[in-house]
Amino acid sequence: MTASLSETSGDNREMAFLGRLASTGREAVVFAVDGQPHVLLNHPALVKHVLVHGARYSKDTPPNRFFAEHIADGLLTSDGDAWKHQRHSLIPAFRDTAAMREVTRERIVSACALLDEYAETGEWFSIVDFMSDLTLAMTTRYLLGLDHTAFIAPLRELGDILDSSSSLLADSGQDVVPMHRRLRSAIEQSLAGASPDESSGSRRAVIATAGNGPDEVYEQIAALLLAGFETTANALSWAWILLTQNPDVYRRWQNSLDVDEAAVLTEHLFTETLRLYPPAWLMGRRAVVDDEIGSVKIRAGSIIAISPYLLHRNETQWPQAHRFDPDRFAANGAPRRHPYAYLPFGAGARHCIGAAFARIEANAILRELGRRYTFEARDDTVPNPAFKFVLRAPGSYAVRVHARASDGD
Ligand code: HEM
Repeated sequence: MTASLSETSGDNREMAFLGRLASTGREAVVFAVDGQPHVLLNHPALVKHVLVHGARYSKDTPPNRFFAEHIADGLLTSDGDAWKHQRHSLIPAFRDTAAMREVTRERIVSACALLDEYAETGEWFSIVDFMSDLTLAMTTRYLLGLDHTAFIAPLRELGDILDSSSSLLADSGQDVVPMHRRLRSAIEQSLAGASPDESSGSRRAVIATAGNGPDEVYEQIAALLLAGFETTANALSWAWILLTQNPDVYRRWQNSLDVDEAAVLTEHLFTETLRLYPPAWLMGRRAVVDDEIGSVKIRAGSIIAISPYLLHRNETQWPQAHRFDPDRFAANGAPRRHPYAYLPFGAGARHCIGAAFARIEANAILRELGRRYTFEARDDTVPNPAFKFVLRAPGSYAVRVHARASDGD
C-alpha cells in the first residue's frame, strides 16, 4: 500500500511524514498526496540523477504552480526556454562581488549602530527579526539600489501566505490579490522614485531580464526578493541560535576572529549551520517522461521530493548527524561522503543563483558581529524549526547583546 500524507496531522506534519518515510532506509519511497503519486528520494545518487537530468524533470509541481500563479512568476519557478532566457540574462546581476562586498559593509555599519544602542539599554530583541531586516536591506540595495523600508510590510504579508500554504500541496485557500497588489505598488513606487545611480548595475540587469513590460519586471523582482532574503535571514538566525546554545564553539570561534584562520572557521560555521538547518528544506520536481534511476522506476507525471534537511541528517553520510560540529568541514576532519549528500543551494542547472551573494553576506555579518559583540540568549535550548516556505527559526528567540571589551576577550 502507498503511504498517504492525509494520514498525518499536526504542526510540521509534512516533515513528520517525510521523516517517517526516510527512516525506512529505502532509497526511494512512493507516497500519495491528494491521490497524486510522489516519490521521496532518500539517497544522494538518486538525487543527483534528477537534478542533473533537468530536461526529464520540470519544476511544474503544485506548490511551484501556486507560487507562480499567485505570488510571483519569475526565475524560481519558470521552466524551459523562458527559464533559460531569464537565467542567462540574470547571471551578470549576480557576478559583481565587489558591489556585494560594498553593500554588505555599508549595511553592517548601520546594523552595528543599532546594536550599540541595544548593548547600552540591555534590551531583549528578536534575532530573527534583526537578521531579516538586515538581509532584506542588503538584497534590495544590491539588486535594485533601493532602500528596503517600503518592502518590509508587503513581503511579510506574502511570507505569511506562503507559510500557511502547504509545501506539498498547492493551495493556501487564501485571497492573495491584495498583498500582491501592495508589494507591486511598493516595488513600482520605489523604482519610479529611484535615481539612476552608478552603482545600480544589478538593477539594470534585473529590469533588462524582464524586458517585456512592467508585469514581468514586478514578477521577477518579487521572486528574487522572496527567494533571496528569507533564506539568508533564517540561515543566519540559526547560526546565532547554534552559537548561543554552544558556548564552547562560540568562544573558540570568537577568539579565532582576531587571527587569520578566522575566515576559514567562519566558513565552516556557516556551512555546518546550512547542513543542520537548510532554509530550502524541500525541493520538488515533476517527471516529464518515464524514467529509471537504478532499479527505481519513475512514472511520467510523478512528483519527486528531495529534502536537503533529511539528506543532511542521514547517519550513513554524516556520522553523529544531529551534532553541531563546524570542524566536520575542516580539510583534515572531512570524511568521504557523496557530493550530493550536501545540497543547501541545490545542484545542477537550477542551483541557487544567489549562493555567492548569500555566502558573502553571511560571512561578513558573522565575522563583523562576532568580532564586536556577544549575543546572550534568553532561552537555554535550541528551538524547533518550523517547516514552512523556508525552514524558519522562531521569531520569539530573544537575545541581548554585549559589546566585547577588546579583541580576543
Ligand atoms: C542561505 C541562502 C540561500 C539558500 C539556502 C538558497 C537555496 C536555494 C536552493 C536550494 C535553490 C534550488 C531550488 C531547486 O532546485 O528547486 C535555490 C534557487 C534559487 N535561489 Fe537561492 N538560496 C539562498 C539565497 C538566495 C539569494 C540571496 C538569492 C537572490 C538574491 C536567491 C535566489 C534564488 C533563485 C532566483 C533561485 C532559482 C534559480 C533557478 O531556478 O535558476 N537565493 N536557492
